[in-house]
Amino acid sequence: MASDPTSAPARPSFALLLAAGLGTRMRSPLAKVLHPALGRPLVAWAVDAARAAALVPVVVVNHQEDAVRAALADRGCRFARQEAPRGTGDAVASGLQAIDEDGVVVVLCGDGPLIRAETLRALCAAHAAGGRPVTVLTMHLEAPGAYGRIVRDESGRVLRIVEAGEARPEELALTEVNTGIYALDIVWLRARLPQLQPHPPKGELYLTDVVELAAAEGGAQGVVLADAREAMGVNDRAQLAEAEGILQERVLRRWMEAGVGIEAPASVTVEAAVELDPDAAIERGAVLRGRTRVGAGARVGAYSVLVDAELEPGAQVLPHCALESCTVASGASVGPFARLRPEARVEEGAKVGNFVEIKKARIAPGAKVPHLSYVGDATVGAGANIGAGTITCNYDGVFKHHTEIGPGAFIGSNSALVAPVRVGAGALVGAGSVITKDVPDEAVALTRAKQEHWPEAARRLRERKLAEKARRGTRS
Ligand code: UD1
Ligand code: CA
Repeated sequence: MASDPTSAPARPSFALLLAAGLGTRMRSPLAKVLHPALGRPLVAWAVDAARAAALVPVVVVNHQEDAVRAALADRGCRFARQEAPRGTGDAVASGLQAIDEDGVVVVLCGDGPLIRAETLRALCAAHAAGGRPVTVLTMHLEAPGAYGRIVRDESGRVLRIVEAGEARPEELALTEVNTGIYALDIVWLRARLPQLQPHPPKGELYLTDVVELAAAEGGAQGVVLADAREAMGVNDRAQLAEAEGILQERVLRRWMEAGVGIEAPASVTVEAAVELDPDAAIERGAVLRGRTRVGAGARVGAYSVLVDAELEPGAQVLPHCALESCTVASGASVGPFARLRPEARVEEGAKVGNFVEIKKARIAPGAKVPHLSYVGDATVGAGANIGAGTITCNYDGVFKHHTEIGPGAFIGSNSALVAPVRVGAGALVGAGSVITKDVPDEAVALTRAKQEHWPEAARRLRERKLAEKARRGTRS
């Protein structure tokens, strides 16, 4: 396609994202457009929609400029700086400084994460078909509030946009409003922006005024957005939660269409960067964050929380587990109530049971850690069995040390393995042992005190106490 010598290279179209505002209503030190929805900054949702619609994103920044640039690294954005918040007209003029090319620019708000690529494509198509310099995306609202009103003439042509604060009563009553999203011809726009007049009292330049300029030249059109929720802007925490809920519904619907089983979707969190294979199963209340991946046939049990976790095909995570930066291999099973911390790797067919914590440790194929253990900085060999209550004592107060448990070893319940230490292949550690020295392959190690019996002593002790109780009688 790109190598066809007879066709001119396609003229790029641009998306200008206005993101210079402070967002004071979030009551947060973090810039509004950097607040995450499903783990992705608000502005990145709009940038990704623009890119999916084949638009080159140009982001107009001011507040926390460096952080906004960093959050959008690797997304192919250009950046422009608006020196002071002098209104949307000034913001767009600033943004155009990052564009040398002509063509079409779509203006978007950085705090509007719900706009879809399909809508942007349709807007661009309508703009191309209309042949006018300005196409405004409008919507109908029963309660139009503070939005700019779309004023049309008797024949339905768009005449201008009037801001709510400046509208006459009959204009305020209009229910068709400006979404703040437009497609504009760059060359035309560049020539008209210097004609914008500041609006009192703040002296702001309104981008909306270019509509009236275009109408005077016979050329502004309005396109109505069917689902007004797409143009929703986020100004406070409640709107952020609402937008996140809508994004979550979309993300889950996409995964279910791809063949992922999701129980009670309204109870589940699946962040934007999570990847799920067809036939993965997500149970009620599961929370999947970051770069978590779940393979085919794998299951995430109810109320388990996974952060950057990888479940290979067929892996089973039972309810109420917490997993972070770890891997569970095919046929392995974890939980219920297990915690896998970073660099835990549970290999094929291995089992980690309830109330077990694993950190920076490899549990080799077929090994079992079924109950109540801490295994950290360790390798557990294939087929080894770790008894209930086993602890790898990996920390001496200053340094961390490694524990190696050989294949086929058996560690009796309530043992402490004081690292650095190695238990050999096939070795057996007796229950209740404190192991401080390496155990040779196939050896038995036992460190607890020898068991002794005192015949009849229990009965004598009991009888003495009962006699004592009778002597004290009612006084006690
Ligand atoms: C603007 C429109 C209004 C429309 C509404 C939709 C104007 C004059 N009015 O109103 O018709 O219904 O959007 O949401 O354009 N921004 C900058 N620099 C500035 C000013 C704004 O980057 O100097 C950014 C803001 O951060 C925000 C966007 O532009 O992302 C819109 O600005 P905002 O102040 O919210 O515009 P409204 O007055 O709500
Ligand atoms: Ca606004």
